[in-house]
Amino acid sequence: MKKVLVASVTCISIFFISSAFYQKYDLAKSIERGKEVYTTYCITCHMEAGNSTPGVYPPLAKSDYLKKPIDNLINIVLEGQTGEILVNDTTYNGQMLPLNYLTDEQVADVLNYVRNSWGNKIPVAITPEKVKALRK
Ligand code: HEC
Repeated sequence: MKKVLVASVTCISIFFISSAFYQKYDLAKSIERGKEVYTTYCITCHMEAGNSTPGVYPPLAKSDYLKKPIDNLINIVLEGQTGEILVNDTTYNGQMLPLNYLTDEQVADVLNYVRNSWGNKIPVAITPEKVKALRK
């Protein structure tokens, strides 16, 4: 009887531990948190509506750049971006300083927010693990 009990408890624990491990990343929550990060760290240049300052800063709203591999996007936030950049057929040549003081979670959240706001819809989550892997 005791053996059966131990076996069931073990099975149940394994089930819970593995389901926690395989839990899907909650993109909706990440986007929600990302809005706050955006308002604190990005809004001064990219504006509330993500349209930046036309002609000066490239837009995030409907930016074709956001469809690039996620490594590019994560690196822009971690390492900044200088020199020519082509966004929606317009070349910009400005400077965005690195925001590498943000946590892995903040970087993932803000990019998930940007990729799913103002008409952007790229519902593939960027995770903190991915950010961590790219951090130098
Ligand atoms: C001080 C102004 C400034 C701040 C703050 C800033 N950016 Fe930028 N961002 C720029 C500039 C300028 C460029 C283009 C740089 C160039 O011309 O090479 C850019 C480019 C980008 C791009 C790629 C181009 C595009 O339009 O899609 C992304 C994505 C981006 N920024 C996201 C962010 C996010 C997310 C934050 C906040 C975590 C942020 N930026 C904060 C100025 C800023």
